[in-house]
Amino acid sequence: MISVNKLARLGVFTPEFPDAEALHQGLARWNRRRLAIAKPSRDWAADLNTDMRMLRLEGGFVEAFRALLAPQLAAVPEDAAGFLGWFEALKDTGPGQWDPLFAWLENEASLEQMRWFLTQEAAGEAGFDDLVALTQIKLPPRPKLELARNYWDEMGRGAEGGMHGPMLERTVKGLELTPSIEGTVWQSLCLANTMTALATTRRYVYQSIGALGAVELTAPTRVGAVAEGLKRLGCPPEQRKYFVLHAQLDIEHSRAWNAEALAPLVEADPSCARLIAEGALMRLTCGEQCFEAYRGHLWAHAHPVVYAAE
Ligand SMILES: [Fe+2]
Ligand SMILES: [Fe+2]
Repeated sequence: MISVNKLARLGVFTPEFPDAEALHQGLARWNRRRLAIAKPSRDWAADLNTDMRMLRLEGGFVEAFRALLAPQLAAVPEDAAGFLGWFEALKDTGPGQWDPLFAWLENEASLEQMRWFLTQEAAGEAGFDDLVALTQIKLPPRPKLELARNYWDEMGRGAEGGMHGPMLERTVKGLELTPSIEGTVWQSLCLANTMTALATTRRYVYQSIGALGAVELTAPTRVGAVAEGLKRLGCPPEQRKYFVLHAQLDIEHSRAWNAEALAPLVEADPSCARLIAEGALMRLTCGEQCFEAYRGHLWAHAHPVVYAAE
């Protein structure tokens, strides 16, 4: 697996946005506008012109990202069993796995440091429920049903108190976090922009399925560490619930996603294996970039020896 250290500042390639921060802040602001509920407007035609310009920019970014990952995809198996083995191995060997940041959050971070981390994560949260809903359009029955079951869990199985999005909101409110695009490192915006690009673009539907599956596969260990860290810092159960829940539930989600969404898709069309793999690597590479940026900020002054990055 390549490391993010070898990535040449992901996102720095368009003359229009000469640096990664401008690119990802621009995409993040546009995503917020284009996905918001809205009403008919006299500006609709002008908005379309903006959308076209931003879609080209977004597409250029995704294609450059794809080109960067291409060498790693040649060896991805195209039979369902072989592919699932490759995919599940990402849990241990994928980009950003076992980043030392999480042991540090669990055992050492102060409340202020934990709050900064969660503010970054909250701003980079694209909304798993909406990403699943956008991705499931026109899928064949078995994968569509799996995405529906996953979505229904996101919806608290019909109970507002169990909805995952508002559950995270309660953490944000309880810890008095104020996430904003401007206050977020570009790597976290890049992650959300990438997930949104894949889920909203039909030509990237397989990548989106792979990226979402990579979240289910890798989230439990990370959110488990965050849950423990919050407990150590004395945060009440209400603020920890989102992380405690996902530390368990996503293990089941990942198993079901792989068996009911990934396997049937690869069985029906072996050529989609590489596209699913590509989406998973995109998501994990974005995560790796975030962890490195977070460590750069959080450890700038007191670099802990015990959890030093390799
Ligand atoms: Fe969730
Ligand atoms: Fe999940």
